[in-house]
Amino acid sequence: MDKPLDHNERIPVVKGNFNLKDYEEARRTFRWEDVEPRFTWHRTGKVNAAYECIDRHVDEGRGDKVALLYSDAQRNESYTFRQLRDLSNRFGNALRKLGVKKGDRVFIFMSRSPELYVAFLGALKVGAIVGPLFEAFMEAAVRDRLQDSQAKVVVTNERLKGRIPIQDLSHLEHVVVQGLTGTPGPKEQSFEALMEEASQELAIEWVDREDGLVLHYTSGSTGKPKGVLHVHNAMIQHYITGLWVLDLHPEDIYWCTADPGWVTGTSYGIFAPWLNGVTNVVRGGRFSQEDWYKTLQDHRVTVWYTAPTALRMLMGAGEELVRQYDLSSVRHILSVGEPLNPEVVRWGLKVYGRRIHDTWWMTETGAQLICNYPCMDIKPGSMGKPFPGIDAAIVDDEGRELPPYQMGNLAIRRGWPSMMRAIWNNPAKYQEYFRLEGWYISGDSAYRDEDGYFWFQGRVDDVINTSGERVGPFEVESKLVEHPAVAEAGVIGKPDPVRGEIIKAFIALRQGYEPSEELKQEIRDFVKNGLAAHAAPREIEFRDKLPKTRSGKIMRRVLKAWELGLPTGDLSTMED
Ligand code: WT7
Repeated sequence: MDKPLDHNERIPVVKGNFNLKDYEEARRTFRWEDVEPRFTWHRTGKVNAAYECIDRHVDEGRGDKVALLYSDAQRNESYTFRQLRDLSNRFGNALRKLGVKKGDRVFIFMSRSPELYVAFLGALKVGAIVGPLFEAFMEAAVRDRLQDSQAKVVVTNERLKGRIPIQDLSHLEHVVVQGLTGTPGPKEQSFEALMEEASQELAIEWVDREDGLVLHYTSGSTGKPKGVLHVHNAMIQHYITGLWVLDLHPEDIYWCTADPGWVTGTSYGIFAPWLNGVTNVVRGGRFSQEDWYKTLQDHRVTVWYTAPTALRMLMGAGEELVRQYDLSSVRHILSVGEPLNPEVVRWGLKVYGRRIHDTWWMTETGAQLICNYPCMDIKPGSMGKPFPGIDAAIVDDEGRELPPYQMGNLAIRRGWPSMMRAIWNNPAKYQEYFRLEGWYISGDSAYRDEDGYFWFQGRVDDVINTSGERVGPFEVESKLVEHPAVAEAGVIGKPDPVRGEIIKAFIALRQGYEPSEELKQEIRDFVKNGLAAHAAPREIEFRDKLPKTRSGKIMRRVLKAWELGLPTGDLSTMED
């Protein structure tokens, strides 16, 4: 689909917020400490990200401004900063009554709704660490995450609560259910009843900047999902990237299309917009081209943060569709999560009349690190340049910096405000990211050009990125081998023009099972219902035997080479 990358193609600058006339100057002079006076804690010494996001705006006279514009097929509601303050105060009190204290893990397993945001903010206000769970997760995925984090409370809704295996979770004390029908089951509490009883005056739990804020589970190439811990201090970076990268102005209507089950949906769906005091649009329900354009149009969205897969699907729906909507309000478009094809950038410029600004970061980094800024030319296909205060480099496996155009590990000089502070319960895993003295190793490979723009090449490990969702092959393989027909399974990402990658499983069947289309479907459903829809392999191929190392590890690299028709490389460690 793409033309070869052109390192000299440029889309010239537009005017933005990033007042520092010259990016290079900001690179030289900017210090993270300079951002701190923008927070009330600088004066009061009291820290809580939920206060800075919501209450502060009420205290400073912006209480009647709309904070949240929520819509889905049934609901169309708006909430002011004052209303969100009062509702989250109520929920904070409800959690306190249930015994929640600073540092306790409160998980939120809900469909997108205003209640999700109220619960999220309320939990932060009492000092809890919030663990958001994507609503597509099924029982096994929910169990792993709640067990590893030893969650005390889960906030959920009637439709999802059945996927929480309370019998396996002795540490879990309460399940708060929104829209509870019938009599409450064991450990269950009604969200509405708790809210009704609670006072709207709350004494906020003031915390330390280094205290836990959110715990996002994400995938690696081996082992169970890991709990990435972020702290309140991250808001420094959420705020300033919101200002300079999202280019937020007070009058903006901002829409981040990501679900808060993923880090984009918290860092940029909650913190960045509200720290900047802008109106935040949340659209519930599933993706559809028509629905998304209608959301942009009806809410008069000005700043839109989305993902390459969605943009490719919109591109697939064609130019005709775009003309049926009034998208004139949209001023600034951004993308994250997977490689943004130059073709999509050119299409966006032609059809939306706007530049699409790619941004690069990860769950572990907590906020944007390499970006395209309004004040800078875009080179289609490039992720952009490091944010001021961020020192990014391409290094070899010994940590030596490489010259332009040489591919290597994308690494960041250790220590920025929103960097993860721990992998929950797993200090050894945390250390792996810092194995090269002074650097955080991202796991992505990339190169830099002579102008300092970074170009993404791929993952160094086997982690799959399907529609911007990060899936660990090990988790899928583990689920597959639980199926009675499956003896062995190896899972890879297969390149796909729309989704970036799709999940493909190679499966060796047990004695007595025959390959068939029905069996493929059954196995697919097994993963879908046991783990998550987005983790189910779209393609399955049966093989008599899978390539393994002598120590019995499935060689995904060989599976990938088979799939792509490439040479299999060094097979010296493969069993006969
Ligand atoms: C991985 C992180 C935090 C954003 C949501 C994804 C890939 C992310 C880009 C980009 C090419 C990208 C990387 C990264 N990725 N942004 N602009 N261009 N690839 O967070 O689930 O932690 O995944 O997504 O491979 O390592 P995540």
